[in-house]
Amino acid sequence: MPTYFRVKGMAGKPKLAGEIAVSGAKNAALKAIAASILFDTPLHIANIPAIEDVNRLLDILVGMGARVTREGKTITINTLPLATDILASAPAKRLRSSIVLTGPILGRYGHVRFPHPGGCVIGERPIDLFLESFERMGARITKTGSFYDIRAPKGGLRGTELFFRTQSVTGTETMMMTATRAKGRTTIKNAAMEPEIVWLAEILNASGAKIQGAGTPTVTIDGLGALAQKKGTTFVVPPDRIEAGSFLILGALLGRELAITHCVPDHLDALIETLDYCGVPIERRRNELFVRQRDTRATLRSIILKTHEYPGFPTDLQAPMTVFLTQVFGESMVFETIFEGRLNYVESLNRMGANITMMDPHRVLVKGPTRLKGKRLESPDLRAGLAFIIAALCANGVSEIANVYNIDRGYERIEERLRIIGAEIDRVEE
Ligand code: EPU
Repeated sequence: MPTYFRVKGMAGKPKLAGEIAVSGAKNAALKAIAASILFDTPLHIANIPAIEDVNRLLDILVGMGARVTREGKTITINTLPLATDILASAPAKRLRSSIVLTGPILGRYGHVRFPHPGGCVIGERPIDLFLESFERMGARITKTGSFYDIRAPKGGLRGTELFFRTQSVTGTETMMMTATRAKGRTTIKNAAMEPEIVWLAEILNASGAKIQGAGTPTVTIDGLGALAQKKGTTFVVPPDRIEAGSFLILGALLGRELAITHCVPDHLDALIETLDYCGVPIERRRNELFVRQRDTRATLRSIILKTHEYPGFPTDLQAPMTVFLTQVFGESMVFETIFEGRLNYVESLNRMGANITMMDPHRVLVKGPTRLKGKRLESPDLRAGLAFIIAALCANGVSEIANVYNIDRGYERIEERLRIIGAEIDRVEE
């Protein structure tokens, strides 16, 4: 049954108050799930967010023979042995991040077959870095139709030196995992440095891997073989910095006194500094961020915002930040440097009354402040979907946001959690 979110706008009045807790990070949980393939023991992971992307990745693994049990937010995955090394076409294509399964399967079983993940609304999403890296480790690739068939050499994958032309998050994670099963040392240069990569390295190292430098541009991995989770340990997924950041932007726009709890403020330096520059001071507490009502909207100033790999401004917060900039005095420019299709949602914001001009696929000019009006919108991807909820809460009147699946992909029961801080948002079945 089609479902949409019905959101009552607060006409710019800062009424949100209380505490909102951040869930476990989607982009950390997905990689830990993939890492289970490298383990000789069942893998216990706590603080798994109840989101659709996690369900889809687990479905793929279960379809391949893994056994998964869930108890609240803790899951146990036993992948030993997988019944097949082939990723089924439809589910793998539907979930781009299924690409992170390929390396661990290849490393462990010496063979993997998977479909090209294909592009998506935010852009092309090539996998050349993955393929070249597998080849550099000695694997042979054949392509039939849209399927890749990748085979490790007889003696197994070989450690090697990799240089990523583009910093890639899933590329770094996948090769880090694959290299734990290669012979000798692998070095990844120009590696991505996101906190989720550091956590992944920590859980692998705690289980017998030897990975150094995660969180820096050079990561070295010594291949030591199968991993085992130490008895009695559970790995806890860290807080989702993108969710925390989105709540912070919401608070900057509409918070009377809002605390974002269960987060790691240091993971959000770029956003906190950017909001501060624009005129919204953020209070950092131990595991919390706090934002209170500003004196007057007139104090907000515009900015040139450029997305960047971590620790720069995250592309995943670009859409909510653009909504923020529609409420700021003056002309802001948003430069999306990572993905080419990640600004298309601005047309919908313009229908709501924003004044945003697309200069080219990577850059928009945002003139503000503008009064937003409630509209019927379609969520194009999860990050723009949450940005639409924020815009709808800022607006006058009621909005309907369709395609909620895209929001459920990455945000757990978002309407219930936003209602607790005073938002009027309902999930409506048509
Ligand atoms: N790239 C290549 N070749 C490759 C791989 C990537 O050219 O083989 C390019 C991409 O086209 C892009 C750039 O490298 O221009 C960076 O992309 P990256 O590989 O880092 O993105 P990703 O690993 O596919 C992850 C997150 C994204 C997040 C990006 C950037 C996961 C599952 N996904 O994607 O999250 O936007 O890093 O930080 O970790 C989301 O959660 O909504 C989301 C899209």
